[in-house]
Amino acid sequence: MRKPLIAANWKMNKLVEDSTAYGEELIERLKAEDVDLKKVDVAVCVPFIHMAALKVIFLLRGIGVGAQNMHSADSGAYTGEISPAMLEDMGIEYVIIGHSERRMYFAETDAACAEKLKAAHSHKIRPILCVGESLEQREAGEHFDTVRKQLAGCFEGIGGKEAAGTVIAYEPVWAIGTGRTATSGQANEMASFIRSVMADLYDAEAAEQIVILYGGSVKKSNIAELMNMSDIDGALVGGASLDAGEFAQIVNFDPDVVGKTPKVQ
Ligand code: PGA
Repeated sequence: MRKPLIAANWKMNKLVEDSTAYGEELIERLKAEDVDLKKVDVAVCVPFIHMAALKVIFLLRGIGVGAQNMHSADSGAYTGEISPAMLEDMGIEYVIIGHSERRMYFAETDAACAEKLKAAHSHKIRPILCVGESLEQREAGEHFDTVRKQLAGCFEGIGGKEAAGTVIAYEPVWAIGTGRTATSGQANEMASFIRSVMADLYDAEAAEQIVILYGGSVKKSNIAELMNMSDIDGALVGGASLDAGEFAQIVNFDPDVVGKTPKVQ
């Protein structure tokens, strides 16, 4: 059984004082929503400056803190970068790798993602690898080929155990921040395809274990339908995660699945 994961991606937002208030509010809202954090993994992926405050607030609360990027080397002359050893030292549990905004604006390649994936696993940080096609690629019917190529490149040199422990987020670029969500059918079709590619690259057992998220304009109004699909195990949430109340409602995508108190029939 794959455990659902709902991850927030704040991108480049919020100041330190906002992050403290958000952390406290999220704990309260998850309590009010009656969410059992043993039944769902929750991660909040934030800019580096917010990590220390959130680690303290989330201590022993069952909410993970994640980075949105990292370098693949442990240390060295890489001005402005943050290393996996530094993240591990801070107790950071997750790292987003290969987000389309990093691929687009910072020229991140599949080969660079493979190095970062290796580094994350060797530091026991759970990577969330993003893949997904552009609008032009979808309209040209190249979305499956694009994603297959990204997966082959990003998992180059990664062992089966590490692959099985990698979270893969399918984020069609045309659905990010646009308000235009892929239909649950489109999202699940690609999630199933990703699982079949991983079965080809590794084996069926590894593919079955991989937690696959959908990302792109996820909000409280569409999460339930997405989470009902066979191959979607969670969500990577950008804009809608900036509000702790809405994010808590997204985490509570189905009270029967993640609720502490079973619903009375
Ligand atoms: P969005 O972003 O939810 O604002 O579309 C998702 C993401 O980029 O991870």
